[in-house]
Amino acid sequence: MSESLHTFTTMPAERQPGCPFDPPKELLEAREHGPISRFPFPDGHQGWLVTGYDLLRAVLADQRFSSRKELMRHHWAMDLAGMEIPPPPPGEFLLMDEPQHGRYRKPLVGKFTVRRMRQLTERVEQVTAEHLDAMEKAGPGTDLVTAFAKPIPAVIICELLGVPYGDRGRFQDNIDKFLSGEVGDEELIAAYLATQTYLAELVAAKRANPTDDLLSDLLDSDFTDEELKGIALILLSAGFDTTANMLGLGTFALLQNPAQLAALRNDPALIDTAVEELMRYLGIAKGFQRVALEDVELGGHTIKAGSMVVLSYNTANRDPERFTDPHLLDLRRQEGGHLGFSHGIHQCLGQQLARVEMRVAFSALVKRFPTLRLAVPAEEVALRPETADIYGVKSLPVTWDA
Ligand code: HEM
Repeated sequence: MSESLHTFTTMPAERQPGCPFDPPKELLEAREHGPISRFPFPDGHQGWLVTGYDLLRAVLADQRFSSRKELMRHHWAMDLAGMEIPPPPPGEFLLMDEPQHGRYRKPLVGKFTVRRMRQLTERVEQVTAEHLDAMEKAGPGTDLVTAFAKPIPAVIICELLGVPYGDRGRFQDNIDKFLSGEVGDEELIAAYLATQTYLAELVAAKRANPTDDLLSDLLDSDFTDEELKGIALILLSAGFDTTANMLGLGTFALLQNPAQLAALRNDPALIDTAVEELMRYLGIAKGFQRVALEDVELGGHTIKAGSMVVLSYNTANRDPERFTDPHLLDLRRQEGGHLGFSHGIHQCLGQQLARVEMRVAFSALVKRFPTLRLAVPAEEVALRPETADIYGVKSLPVTWDA
């Protein structure tokens, strides 16, 4: 083992004041020491932290690194250190390995193809226009998260799955709770159980009365109702929260980079590279973990079987060995391959949907509100804490000229 191996000890590392878009300084410093660091866990386990692009991609492509929930350890919460983690409920395949993972994922892949998602463009345009109309009608001054970033992906994922949008009061706040990183264990469990109850009722209702949607389509597969509940939960929570945070934080980043915003407004054809660059630059899905199933050589080190590997996706997306001027938001950037949607077998299933939503929503917003600006000083914009799995803004007060 190399003697200069860096040990990373700050978790969760916080963002620097005034730098809401950059990964925490300690993570960037760890990467400067090298693509892999030692990472002692609060329960005494000696884990690893990967911050370099090439190594991180190699881990994601290697099935000797497992995603199984029950093999994981808590890596920052002192009070949870050493606590055993139960296996994921049936259907929640993000935290499973093959062959269980593929059994769930395969029947879904065809429902999220580029072609299928492009067909949704018109509907996404309509929903976006309705929300922008409502903003315009209400007049200058709104919270962009409530008026725009959250409802657009929420309506679309509900329609796709066949979840009545009118029911969202029964699950949206609860899903927010378990993704916000801000509520205690008791509240978290209550929110999770309430969502489970809602989804059980929904699956039963679809069985009794199938409709034309993804959940009803899956009734013909060999999945049990328990499994369908798990699949619905993973799609609903991923579909709600991730794109919403990209739209909120992405708009904040554009407003803070006026030359880039102007470039996009003047050249709408920039939208495809703009979306990829915002995904790279913002890295809202900041990090996940894997665990080595056997001894694996990685970057000149032996990762022993059973060792935890914490993966810092957002730091890897700022790796200067992979991206030129990595800390610069450049909507014209041609260097693809960011890890914002991950890589390997767990690579985001909904990425084509997210792309369609982001392309349509950002394009329409910058066109419709050319004078859009923050209504509060940038330092007052409320950010999600680093304990949240998905980073973003909690609210984004904006205004514009009537
Ligand atoms: C900009 C928005 C999005 C971001 C940043 C994002 C990010 C990610 C990332 C990083 C992973 C992989 C995690 C890992 O490596 O273990 C993932 C997986 C996943 N995402 Fe997304 N996602 C987004 C939108 C969506 C949408 C709209 C959907 C739903 C329809 C979705 C559904 C899923 C599912 C089902 C998985 C699990 C895939 C598997 O384990 O095979 N995502 N996403």
